[in-house]
Amino acid sequence: MNWADPSPEREATGGQPLLETDDLVAGYLPEVDILNGVSVKVREGEIVTIVGPNGAGKSTFIKTVFGLLRPRKGSIMLQGESIAGRRPHDITRLGMSYVPQLDNVFPTLTVSENLEMGSLDRSTTKAQIDRMCELFPRLGERRSQAAGTMSGGERQMVAMARALMPNPKVLLLDEPSAGLAPAFVDAIFEKTEEVNREGVTIVMVEQNARRALAMSDRGYVLDLGQDRFEGPGRDLLDDPKVAELYLGGTARIDAAEADDSEANGPEEGPTRQDSSTV
Ligand SMILES: Nc1ncnc2c1ncn2[C@@H]1O[C@H](COP(=O)(O)OP(=O)(O)OP(=O)(O)O)[C@@H](O)[C@H]1O
Ligand SMILES: [Mg+2]
Repeated sequence: MNWADPSPEREATGGQPLLETDDLVAGYLPEVDILNGVSVKVREGEIVTIVGPNGAGKSTFIKTVFGLLRPRKGSIMLQGESIAGRRPHDITRLGMSYVPQLDNVFPTLTVSENLEMGSLDRSTTKAQIDRMCELFPRLGERRSQAAGTMSGGERQMVAMARALMPNPKVLLLDEPSAGLAPAFVDAIFEKTEEVNREGVTIVMVEQNARRALAMSDRGYVLDLGQDRFEGPGRDLLDDPKVAELYLGGTARIDAAEADDSEANGPEEGPTRQDSSTV
């Protein structure tokens, strides 16, 4: 299957990031900032996961990047072009798609109609729907079913397929596995990896933090509207402080205690952006 141009070298990091935010500040109510300076870099071909406690601002970050919320400060660059203040429709045309955390399908429309809604180019709609039904065979069997009558996992597949219809370079996923039965959690993560292997860069927010970080090239911990830690997914999982504060503790508590007495973390480990975590 040929989606976006696959990145020839996954490890190639010399060029500019595909997506980059710098010191992003945003909020819903006047004078109440929810994001307090979020700087995130996403390279082509990566899976980057953002984890953090409830209310940390993860969804707000994704919404701001996708143009649903106008940043008050800071920059958002997609392929070197500033997209801060651009509308979601324009951002989709520039190659970034978004799957919201909630209400991400049109319930009264069929699977095919939902996918059609995601298309930007009518001349390729039919072929793209066929591709999506190949990627998600379950949708292929249910093209005429109303999305609202499907299970949570199936709806999540419809939402993801719809977001993939325009062949995005970057896919933003907000809690793709939330509330799903275990079999669907596996299916959604596997599909996410498959889509990534085909060349789509993934930025994902996940409650299922351990699982998501384990499959991620890099991750960020967002807390109180700031990026507090960043590093390779595996390093974040192994970082005792991150585990203790954000991943519900681990078997590495002994290491966490040892780390508490040291000023700096391991050289190769995640970068501590700010030690004043909750
Ligand atoms: N539409 C809105 N209007 C006003 N405040 C909002 C709105 N949406 C979110 N907030 C507030 O912004 C803060 C961050 O919410 P956000 O949804 O970004 O958190 P989150 O990290 O995604 O949390 P969760 O893990 O529960 O999904 C919360 O205090 C929330 O109450
Ligand atoms: Mg959220």
